[in-house]
Amino acid sequence: MLPVYYNSLDFARQCDEADVLQHFRHRFLFPQRNNREVLYFTGNSLGLQPKSVRTALEQELSDWATLGVEGHFRATVPWWQYHKAVQEPLARIVGAQPHEVVAMNTLTVNLHLLLATFYQPTPQRFHILCEAGAFPSDDYALETHVALRGLDPRRAIVEVVAKDQHGLLCTEDIVQAIDTLGDSLALVMFSGVQYYTGQAFDIRTITRAAHCVGAIACFDLAHAVGNIVLKLHEWDVDAAAWCSYKYLNSSPGGIAGVFIHERHAMNKDLPRLAGWWGNDESERFQMKKGFRPASGAQAWQLSNPPALLMATHKAALEIFDEAGIERLRAKSEALTGFLEFIIRDVAGTHVRIITPSNPAERGAQLSLIIERNGRAVFQHLLNNGVIVDWREPDVVRVAPVPLYNSFEDVWRFGECLKKALDAECQ
Ligand SMILES: Cc1ncc(COP(=O)(O)O)c(C=O)c1O
Repeated sequence: MLPVYYNSLDFARQCDEADVLQHFRHRFLFPQRNNREVLYFTGNSLGLQPKSVRTALEQELSDWATLGVEGHFRATVPWWQYHKAVQEPLARIVGAQPHEVVAMNTLTVNLHLLLATFYQPTPQRFHILCEAGAFPSDDYALETHVALRGLDPRRAIVEVVAKDQHGLLCTEDIVQAIDTLGDSLALVMFSGVQYYTGQAFDIRTITRAAHCVGAIACFDLAHAVGNIVLKLHEWDVDAAAWCSYKYLNSSPGGIAGVFIHERHAMNKDLPRLAGWWGNDESERFQMKKGFRPASGAQAWQLSNPPALLMATHKAALEIFDEAGIERLRAKSEALTGFLEFIIRDVAGTHVRIITPSNPAERGAQLSLIIERNGRAVFQHLLNNGVIVDWREPDVVRVAPVPLYNSFEDVWRFGECLKKALDAECQ
């Protein structure tokens, strides 16, 4: 990658020619508007469809048509074992041992399952620490778990509030909040990458601080998985959950996943909410009473795997495996760096980027505050085929995704932003 950026189409094209991952773009379907491909920057919300997904789904439909119920054991990927077919690629993406991960359910359901196991309040140790401004579903999950245990959410949940007006947190402030709660802290539940600001948190340091006071460290990795390099096992994270429809391109509402560190995953005595798919596989079809957990994260499964969602997920993860998360991250840093440069060049003081400038503290996404008429500028971009998103109260999120966005896309975004600002901010 070239170390210095220039605002020119030639420069952007040179970067694309030097990009060893550029051919992956052609493996995705770009939405069209007025017979032209849009400029798509919302892979942080819904990743694009890999072309290979259609073939994968057709195979499942054909297996279902020709095999019926026997497909559970005789389909191309036998349905009853589908969760195992995605374990290894998922483990590589989150930095885990394969038996520490499982694809299942949806993100909020998985947050509830993790809380059922890992939030075990006592009269002495009952606090949960999270970031202020977390995604509402996370807040609701925490609130309702605390209430289920007969505690008052206003007392049990402590938020780390940013000193920065845009909600950026310092690692030192998070660590200090953990230390202050000390042995009253039961659980830390943080984002890996914050959905609104795009800030990437220091998962290793937060985990270490939580463990120092005897608390559990859990993370919502919705915006981190497939975006930044994760080493969940090495960082000693206790548990984490994510969705697969953002950077993992595994379809709207697609199958989600969890990581449970092996020291917990192999502990069959942990409390949990159980279903037959988490039972010891050798006894699963014996229809006996008495739950006997399987080994590993798969013991947290409730239901049999949804074959169509699993097939989509598997096809999407195969692309990740080919590209490799380290190479994707290297391109992502360069691409987002270029976006930052272009925005500053074309927008000057009209646009403030609230996402940290330090690449180690962010993923692909930049969150922009447009000083005047933000909504109108956003709408202008959309009307002109630039797909970005708006998050209340005032942020436009733009995420160039290294698997399918190019440097030329980013340069074109700059040209469109300039026009939108000229039209709406005079
Ligand atoms: C950080 C975060 N948490 C939770 C959710 C809710 O996810 P789901 O609807 O898949 O449960 C989202 C959805 O975008 C999210 O970004």
